[in-house]
Amino acid sequence: MNPVLPPIDDTKIWDVMLSVFNSQAIAIALELEVFDGLSEPSGVEELANKLGYSPRGMKALLPMLKVQGFLDKHQGAYQLNNLSRTYMLKESPYYWGPFFSRRAEAFPNYKMILENIRDGETVESRAAADGWESGTLPPEVAKSVTDFMHCHSMPSAVGLAHTCDFSGVSSLLDVGGGSGCYASALANHYPEMKCTIMELAAVCEVAKGYIEKAGVSDRVDTTTVDMFREDWPEGYEAHFFSNIFHDWSIETCEQLAQKSFDALAPGGRICLQEILLEESGDEPYAAVAFSFFMTQGTKGQQFTMAQLEAILTKAGFSNISAQRSYGYYSLVTGKKP
Ligand SMILES: C[S@@+](CC[C@H](N)C(=O)[O-])C[C@H]1O[C@@H](n2cnc3c(N)ncnc32)[C@H](O)[C@@H]1O
Repeated sequence: MNPVLPPIDDTKIWDVMLSVFNSQAIAIALELEVFDGLSEPSGVEELANKLGYSPRGMKALLPMLKVQGFLDKHQGAYQLNNLSRTYMLKESPYYWGPFFSRRAEAFPNYKMILENIRDGETVESRAAADGWESGTLPPEVAKSVTDFMHCHSMPSAVGLAHTCDFSGVSSLLDVGGGSGCYASALANHYPEMKCTIMELAAVCEVAKGYIEKAGVSDRVDTTTVDMFREDWPEGYEAHFFSNIFHDWSIETCEQLAQKSFDALAPGGRICLQEILLEESGDEPYAAVAFSFFMTQGTKGQQFTMAQLEAILTKAGFSNISAQRSYGYYSLVTGKKP
């Protein structure tokens, strides 16, 4: 089956899906006394140090407060504004704390998210990511995560195949390709293209079913490679990563970019499909809220274009550019000289 472009893009779905974090972020900030802690304007690190919380957590939380209008930012420092001073401070007669505190009891995974924000990460939130890191994923986790990712990525996979130019690419390695929705959409769009989904063993098994359903088994296959521990196959003209860099720290992304650079031949392309933060790190809403989401179950965050450019440049890539691909996503590409 070669799916046509969806008749309407998926941004509304993303807005609704991410909105679950709006109240949670406010409740967490109140419980962690972040608003009171901002009696003086503070940068992320400064506030994290002052309150004794994880810088990664504050880096996810403060933009969520700003993008919802509860904080302002001036010269890199977050500060209270009229809204937060009126409703978020304990001494105010209009303080909303007890309301959010009572509601928080009903928020899904509230305690876990709060602990992730406060401490950087927690063990129980990372079942899938632990398997990713160790390179071993139980079949039932592989099936559930891959199905979850497939529906969330399918519109942008078909969208990307229509909006971005992959002509001239005859072989593509989809690193951490999940269900293979991107590989399948590209193979469907470009009849000359062959793609391989590079994944953990249990995910390759799930991907095979998706590839067959997409009707591209003659040109899309899978290869079992632990992207951290094993050598990557050579000979592909392009390496494609969708939602991979956002799962990891900058240092791990640098390792992945280096592995890609080393396995590509000169002239080869690296392609990163990600929802990009603006350079301020506080816009747009979808990237900020997705970054907040990444504190649950991953070690990552959404990146700005400048951050991705620095990672790719460090590995040796040049000609780095970005274009909007579909919905909230952008495609960042670089070339091995
Ligand atoms: C967030 S999902 C992205 C899936 C797909 N690219 C998409 O955008 O829908 C991350 C993928 O990376 C894969 N992955 C994680 N750790 C890996 C490893 N060590 N080696 C190979 N693949 C890995 C996971 O199995 C998962 O499918």
